[in-house]
Amino acid sequence: MSNLFRRTEWFRRDRFGMFIHWGLYAIPGRGEWVMSDERIPADVYKDYFKQFNPVDYDPVVWAKAAKKAGMKYVVLTAKHHDGFCLFDSALTDYKSTNTICKRDLVREFVDAVRAEGLKVGLYYSLIDWQHPHYPKYDDLMHPMRRNEAYKDEVIDFDQYLTYMHGQIKELCTNYGQIDILWFDYSYEHMRGETWRAKELMEMVRSLQPNVIVDNRLETSGEGGGSIMTANPTAWGGDFASPEQIIPPEGIKNELGVPLPWELCTTMNNNWGYAPNDLNYKPSSMLIRKLVECVSKGGNMILNVGPDARGTINNQSMQILEDIGQWMSLNSESIYECGYAEINKPEWGRYTRNGNKIYAHVLEAQIGPLALTGIPADQVKSMYQLADGVQVQRGESWITKAYEGILFACLGSIPHFTYPLPDAADTVIVIELKE
Ligand code: GLC
Repeated sequence: MSNLFRRTEWFRRDRFGMFIHWGLYAIPGRGEWVMSDERIPADVYKDYFKQFNPVDYDPVVWAKAAKKAGMKYVVLTAKHHDGFCLFDSALTDYKSTNTICKRDLVREFVDAVRAEGLKVGLYYSLIDWQHPHYPKYDDLMHPMRRNEAYKDEVIDFDQYLTYMHGQIKELCTNYGQIDILWFDYSYEHMRGETWRAKELMEMVRSLQPNVIVDNRLETSGEGGGSIMTANPTAWGGDFASPEQIIPPEGIKNELGVPLPWELCTTMNNNWGYAPNDLNYKPSSMLIRKLVECVSKGGNMILNVGPDARGTINNQSMQILEDIGQWMSLNSESIYECGYAEINKPEWGRYTRNGNKIYAHVLEAQIGPLALTGIPADQVKSMYQLADGVQVQRGESWITKAYEGILFACLGSIPHFTYPLPDAADTVIVIELKE
């Protein structure tokens, strides 16, 4: 367990990352599962390979946008389920250096992210709908599942595993220090030793001893795997990866030990570029979801899906700008923070770092703010994080009936302030006596 916590110390400090789902599926623009959803045969899907020419690709722009949003790490899909490699793999011709652009997109990505001082993550799909020796007819999601033409096909899955391990070795060898390896994903019997996970992780750890790995060599967003047990396997991962859901009560293993975890979520409802999906979450909501993750001891990685030219669209960039504006004033209540060990208050959430408790006020109050769960006699000072202005105690004649509860006021006593200084999340720092 100590290894798991040692390796994830930076991760649990940094709390907030960017996911980037990008590849051939940006051309159809119907999400990254289009090949499976529409049962597109590999030779037809290869038309996108022939077209792919991201003339506007500039990962420096991506890295700067992530940094400005307050994100501390960035994870790019080096290979998604469709099998297309965004890196110069010696093991396949199905790679970005063989497209019109002739660029090693991963190389440029890792250089740009490191130049901004951010941690580098690579997502690698265990699933591969392009490789000839990946299961098809009986597979759960393969584009050729239940296609009679593949019913009697004979494959040698070990050949695929040797390819997969070889590519992961390339990523761990040729691109400098990798901080996160984001494997995706296990299902049915395709998990653990079916991937030769023990051998894989021995290789990964020998090349990248400090890399942290998600738990999807054993599971997917559906569950936890052995990381949830008292005896995690060597390939059980360093963090749990709940997908499109914030764990109601954070994540603990069977011994009740809080685990590192990361919510992965999208701005709209697609990981890959989908211009017809206009269901973007408001930036205020995403700020509040980041706070919720941290208040429950977790991280949030927020996805962008660049288009086929390599551009992150305006809606996504605006959301990143808005989040960055809030983080520029309030990131102290996110970085190095976690569960406050206090019950959630009615008006918002608490995060905590040592003797500082951060009250995230998400709902304006009538009257003063009841700082339930915080003993008045332990309070050294209170102030708004965004501008440092003092926050006064809120006890007065209207709180007489509620002795023993600590109250705070943002405006003139005895009334609270409406509207809140920051409608998305107004943060009050409650500094406790040492
Ligand atoms: C799911 C999706 C995959 C996506 C991943 C991100 O596994 O199948 O498309 O990359 O979630 O967490």
